[in-house]
Amino acid sequence: MKIFLDTADTDVIKEFKEMGLVDGITTNPTLIARTGRKFGEVIRDICAIVDGPVNAEVTAATADGILDEAREIRKWGEQIVIKIPMNREGLRAVWRLSEEGIPTTVTLIFSVPQAILAAKAGARYLCPFVGRLDDIASEGTSLLYDITAVLGQYPEWDCEVMAASVRHPIHVVEAARAGVDVITIPPKVIDQMLSHPLTDRGIAQFLKDAALCYS
Ligand code: E4P
Repeated sequence: MKIFLDTADTDVIKEFKEMGLVDGITTNPTLIARTGRKFGEVIRDICAIVDGPVNAEVTAATADGILDEAREIRKWGEQIVIKIPMNREGLRAVWRLSEEGIPTTVTLIFSVPQAILAAKAGARYLCPFVGRLDDIASEGTSLLYDITAVLGQYPEWDCEVMAASVRHPIHVVEAARAGVDVITIPPKVIDQMLSHPLTDRGIAQFLKDAALCYS
């Protein structure tokens, strides 16, 4: 399972890259806005840090508008994956970009039927949103099991399932159990995954004992 970082914060990306935890990056307009910087600058900076795929989201409402935006964004880096919302115009753009060999992520997927259509249209990555389904009292993680089960039967749809809208470590565990190809994780959740009170207590005890017998 690949891990992408769900952030546009370049300092954080550098930090986690040094731990070998960054196979790629996802951004969205909200994450870019949080940096206080311009979209193009941030994406170019991320491309200079990360070797893997960097997801940059388009905002145009029509397929032609998305194509123009996508071709411009791709000039910033060969590794850029164009992130496109799930709707009719989005899928038209996905299909045309796939014909041009430009990889896309279809984002804001909330159902298996949407995932089937995005896969058929030629998306490289499908992004089911787990946390936002939980927010409306639905079971976000069951969607991951359903999508991986369905798509696993059709290897001719050459796409990867990327769990998104991850809010806590249990989402990560469930995504791994469901067999997703990629999970995009916010830095806060990686921090939560890193720590355990018994680890802290164990380190403190070992240090105390080491003071008695090391050196
Ligand atoms: C990533 O590609 C998505 O845009 C992101 O995971 C959404 O997360 P959120 O639902 O916590 O905003």
